Amino acid sequence: MQRRLHLNNDIVNEQRPDDVRNCRATEPISFRRIHRCVPGIVSALFFIGSAHLTWGQEPPDSHNTPSNRFVALENEIEKLRASDAQSSDVKRLIAIDVELRDQTSETAKQIQQSVLVALAEQGTAVSLEHLRSVFETQTHRRHDAAYAISVAAMDRPTDDQDWRYLVRSLMVVEGRQAVSVLQSLGRFRRRATKAAWVRQVILIALTLPEQDLPAALELLKFWTQHTPAPQGLVKDQLADYQAWFRDSYPDEPKPKLPVDMAGSRWTYNRLSGVLADLKSDRTSIAAGEVVYSRADCQKCHRRGNMKGQPQNNQLGPDLTSLGWRRQPKEILMAILYPSHHLNDEYPVTTVVLKGGMSVSGLMMPDERAGLKIVGSDGMATRFKRADIDETLASNVSNMPTGLLERLSLREIEQLMAFLSAQTGDADPHD
Ligand code: HEC
Repeated sequence: MQRRLHLNNDIVNEQRPDDVRNCRATEPISFRRIHRCVPGIVSALFFIGSAHLTWGQEPPDSHNTPSNRFVALENEIEKLRASDAQSSDVKRLIAIDVELRDQTSETAKQIQQSVLVALAEQGTAVSLEHLRSVFETQTHRRHDAAYAISVAAMDRPTDDQDWRYLVRSLMVVEGRQAVSVLQSLGRFRRRATKAAWVRQVILIALTLPEQDLPAALELLKFWTQHTPAPQGLVKDQLADYQAWFRDSYPDEPKPKLPVDMAGSRWTYNRLSGVLADLKSDRTSIAAGEVVYSRADCQKCHRRGNMKGQPQNNQLGPDLTSLGWRRQPKEILMAILYPSHHLNDEYPVTTVVLKGGMSVSGLMMPDERAGLKIVGSDGMATRFKRADIDETLASNVSNMPTGLLERLSLREIEQLMAFLSAQTGDADPHD
């Protein structure tokens, strides 16, 4: 199978036949080899990028125009990639990354991506530490950092810390970056122990083109030790893992992609433009706060140290540091499809009472009756333990679906701006 550099699919796909010939590989990728195979592609990437660049918000400098600066950086990175790991090279690569930190142009982003890959190739303790720090502190680059970590770990699949970053990244990586993460995870000796991680690999596999499915299937086989019928097509093997997962973990949400409610106005696909052009200006954020209040979010969620928050808003997670924890696409998914990823801390229980009545929601202690169930409408049903006939775990979230339906596109943009800007430190709530 041919493996390719995944920096930019469009350009990489224009690989010349002679590059392709030199790059056939049956083993998972080694980035040193990729570098030897496709230096021209990396250069082409920068060249094309530089041709229409804008240098963020910085005023152009007549001596050092944006394009000159990018081309210079690109050449420098090429040289650094070709040289053997030296601490000065690593320092310089990190300095370039920091220098580009506030740049928003596509070209700057691509250069940053290639800096991360170059750091992965260097493979020193300091360079790997930088990748981990980008993963932790620059949420919007988490997938790029994970991809670089997967590259570094491909040759050295031994560090438990890398393994954990790669597993966490399963929530955000897509396409070819996801394939690299899956391949890399498959090289570790450690296997996933949580059903949610296995499910996440199945969910990623459902989004991959057929030719990329083997990477996911191999990892599933290794993690689950379950072997699907060998004569099946790769798609059938994936379906086999879905069925196996349902049987093995009946209490987990089903391993399938979320389905939009019939007739819903706002779907993930329709709102993907909001993600591509996420606002971060103060006016949008302030307007988003108003939308947040009007849409009843604070009925269940706490946020910051807001005075006067209703006392019962503990029905959902604290959103104070949401923007650190989650990428905008994860936030949008969480709002559109609340039951797709359930949070263990807010388990929904269905209680059948002896009189035959049944209620679902979050079960909590109650001062008066002993227990109460708080439903998604915020209403509490109180009862005594002795009244319970049966309790059942539910995998339908207490967070209602369709919360965005009443909002306009502009309001959703503002709400997303506001939510992504929640990057405070969550105070412990007693
Ligand atoms: C009735 C309670 C309720 C309401 C109302 C509600 N949520 Fe939630 N929300 C939850 C629960 C419970 C979860 C945890 C998911 C789960 O396991 O069910 C959650 C999860 C989330 C998450 C994911 C948080 C994380 O830590 O990853 C986001 C984001 C979110 N809600 C945003 C909103 C927004 C925005 C609104 C208003 C439009 C809203 N929620 C209204 C209960 C609620």
